[in-house]
Amino acid sequence: MTENIVKDALSKVQYPGFTKDIVAFGFVKSIQIEGTRVNVDVEVTSSAPEVAQQIIDEATTELKMAGASDVTVRINAPKLPRESSSKGKNIAPQVKNFIMVSSGKGGVGKSTTSVNLAIALALQGKKVGLLDADIYGPNVPRMLGLEGIKPEIEGNKVMPLKAYGIEVMSMGSLMEEGQSLIWRGAMIMKAIEQFLRDILWSELDCLVIDMPPGTGDAQLTLAQSVPVTMGVTVTTPQMVSLDDSRRSLDMFKKLHIPIAGIVENMSGFIAPDTGVEYDIFGKGTTEPMAKEFNTEIIAQIPIEPAIRTGGDEGKPITFAKPDSETAKRFMKAAEAIWMKIEKINEEGGVDNQAIQPTTAPGVSACSTAAAPKPQAAPEQNAGSCGTGCGCH
Ligand SMILES: Nc1ncnc2c1ncn2[C@@H]1O[C@H](COP(=O)(O)OP(=O)(O)OP(=O)(O)O)[C@@H](O)[C@H]1O
Ligand SMILES: [Mg+2]
Repeated sequence: MTENIVKDALSKVQYPGFTKDIVAFGFVKSIQIEGTRVNVDVEVTSSAPEVAQQIIDEATTELKMAGASDVTVRINAPKLPRESSSKGKNIAPQVKNFIMVSSGKGGVGKSTTSVNLAIALALQGKKVGLLDADIYGPNVPRMLGLEGIKPEIEGNKVMPLKAYGIEVMSMGSLMEEGQSLIWRGAMIMKAIEQFLRDILWSELDCLVIDMPPGTGDAQLTLAQSVPVTMGVTVTTPQMVSLDDSRRSLDMFKKLHIPIAGIVENMSGFIAPDTGVEYDIFGKGTTEPMAKEFNTEIIAQIPIEPAIRTGGDEGKPITFAKPDSETAKRFMKAAEAIWMKIEKINEEGGVDNQAIQPTTAPGVSACSTAAAPKPQAAPEQNAGSCGTGCGCH
């Protein structure tokens, strides 16, 4: 037996629920060969025991067929996701952790980041949902190959769709294609609440939420409806984008949402033919802003044609090309986010009590003329609606 024979045999073992094999996903961590005895260490990211058993069975069969006499497949299971220790209002209590993906500016790659982070977290064994909260321009169905697929309705609840091991819901799956809706503040709040309350999400370790661009009613309603465990800001490295990203980071601060970090997207260009990396928008310009907000860059994602085609064709790069540099960077970012989530929960979790609205339910504190007068002196409260909601 040689390492190549063992790898060839293991590459016939699909990761349960996916079309890729355990070698392509990088789950085979070590191989020891002594004559025809083979020991393999596999890191299985799923916490489901049947997944581990299926891999052991299939790997043993394949290795024996390739000539091994004695096979040991050791499965290193991930740490079981901890319970959330978050407090405050949570209208989707079956979800343990919420990850809000935001940006000040449109078109910087929030949806791309949300989709790939959600898949990366699922590949790392978490039970993941993806909520496309961009009610103005829902792109997630296309990015996951779910266009035109309508969800099932059960009573007055909606079943999430499923793709690449994650649960998904989007306004794009509920509307006719190409249809547009005109949203008022109160309608935005209702829509976000319904996404959380009326979608039959399973017991999820985390829900990744792809936000519309900016810092408005959708962000505020979300943060008031569920305790958001982590905020991720997506930016491109140009200064004009950074200015907007600062607003997004500031919003997290005002809403008491811990910042997981910044994804610097379109950071350099990797030429598909040569693999050489070129700087286009000014790689690394995000660093000072990360420092300013006491956070870090959790991924620098290059401009890569496969990211765009993956999005357009419904085959996200983290799933479709797990060997690519980009997929590896999304996997690393997902790991970093999860470590931070665990830390936050160990330290007592998040609490959204302090940002609850003081206006009647369904009325936007930020857009209503009936908003209460600011309590604090005007100079301390300039630009705010005065409800403590952090809207400005
Ligand atoms: N690193 C990248 N390399 C190549 N193409 C990319 C990259 N990141 C994003 N894109 C492409 O750029 C377009 C915009 O990305 P995306 O839709 O993720 O941005 P967004 O911030 O969600 O936009 P919006 O604000 O409109 O919701 C998409 O076509 C996407 O495939
Ligand atoms: Mg988007």
